[in-house]
Amino acid sequence: MNAFKPLVFSGVQPTGNLHLGNYLGAIRKFVALQEDNDCIYCVVDMHAITAQLVHSDLKAQTRSIAAAFIASGIDPVKHIVFNQSAVPQHAELAWVFNCVARIGWMERMTQFKDKSGKNAEQVSLGLLAYPSLMAADILVYRATHVPVGDDQKQHLELARDIAQKFNIDFGDHIRKAGLGLDITVGDEPVHAYFPMVEPLIGGPAPRVMSLKDGTKKMSKSDPSDLSRINLMDDVDAISKKIKKAKTDPDALPSEVEGLKGRAEAENLVGIYAALSDKTKADVLAEFGGQQFSAFKPALVDLAVNVLAPINNEMRRLLDDVSHIDAILKDGGERAGAIAQKTMDEVRDIIGFLR
Ligand code: TYM
Repeated sequence: MNAFKPLVFSGVQPTGNLHLGNYLGAIRKFVALQEDNDCIYCVVDMHAITAQLVHSDLKAQTRSIAAAFIASGIDPVKHIVFNQSAVPQHAELAWVFNCVARIGWMERMTQFKDKSGKNAEQVSLGLLAYPSLMAADILVYRATHVPVGDDQKQHLELARDIAQKFNIDFGDHIRKAGLGLDITVGDEPVHAYFPMVEPLIGGPAPRVMSLKDGTKKMSKSDPSDLSRINLMDDVDAISKKIKKAKTDPDALPSEVEGLKGRAEAENLVGIYAALSDKTKADVLAEFGGQQFSAFKPALVDLAVNVLAPINNEMRRLLDDVSHIDAILKDGGERAGAIAQKTMDEVRDIIGFLR
C-alpha cells in the first residue's frame, strides 16, 4: 500500500555526453511516464561535482541535458524540468539525511567502491555522501516512483532505508506535528512522513552494455568512443559504431533463452527492442535465424530514425540558450515551492526553530 500521491522524480548528471544507455534506461521512460503522472525531472549539477570538482563548462553541460529532456519529448510546462542547484532545499535535506544515514551504508555502495577504487581515503566527502543527496532529491518532493537504469538500484534501496529510518526515529514527532500517513512496509504498519520510493527499472534494456564488450556497462567514462552511441552522434557515427559493434559468429536465435551466454547478441537485441517499444521475444520472432550482417543494418535504420530527430531538436534548442535558461528557471521556482513546504515540515518534525 502506498497512500502517498503518486509523483515521478528522476535525475541525470551533467557529466559528459549522454549516450544510448541514458536514453533507453532513463529518458525514454521519463517521456512515457509523463502521460499518466506528475513528473519532476532534474539535471543534478550538484552531483556532478562529487567525483570531479572543476568542469570546463558545467553550464553548457547542464543546458545540454535539459535540451535532451525536451528534445526527447518531455513537456516542461505540464511537468517540471530544472537544475538541482537552483533549489537549495535538496542540500538542506541532504544534510539531515547525512545525520540519519550511517557511514557504513555509504561505504557499501558498489558505485562508491568503483569510483573510489583503492583511493577511498582521498576521494571527496561528497562522493561518499552522494546517495544521501540522491535520496534528498527524491524525498524533498516526497516522490513515489523513480525511473532509472539498473545501475541505480542500490542507491534507491538506500533511499528507502533512509526514509524508513527517518520515519521510525521521528515517529512520535511526525504524529505530534500532525503530519505523515499510515502505510505498510512489508507487513509492518508505519506512520510515515516520507514514502518508500519504488524504482521503475524494467523494460528490455535496463542496463545497456558497451558495444565493444557485452559484459561492461555502456558508460560516459569508457575511453573508447566506439563503445557507446552518443545522443549527439550523427548518422555516420551511429552507423559506423553499430557496424563495428562486437558480435559472435552465430545467427540470432528464435527464442529469448537462446541469448543466454551471448552477451553482445543480447545487448543488441535489447537495444532494438527498447528503441522500437517491443519485447526481445518480438524482435527474435522477426530476426531469429538471421545473421548479424542482416540485423545490424536494420538496427542502424531504427537507431537513426529514433535518434536523428532528437539530435536535430537538441541542436536547435541549444542555439537559443536563453529559452532553455527560462525553462530551467521556471522549473526551479515551481520545484522550490514544493521543496520549501517539505522543509518547513521537516524543520517542525526535527525541532528546528523557524
Ligand atoms: P547518471 O547521470 O549516471 O545516469 C542517468 C540515468 O541513465 C541511466 N543509465 C543507464 N541505463 C541503462 N544502461 C546504461 N548503460 C546506463 N547508464 C546510465 C542511469 O541509471 C540513470 O537513470 N545518480 C544518478 C543521478 C541522480 C538521480 C537522482 C536519479 C541523482 N539524483 C534521483 C534518480 C533519482 C546518476 O548518476 O545517473
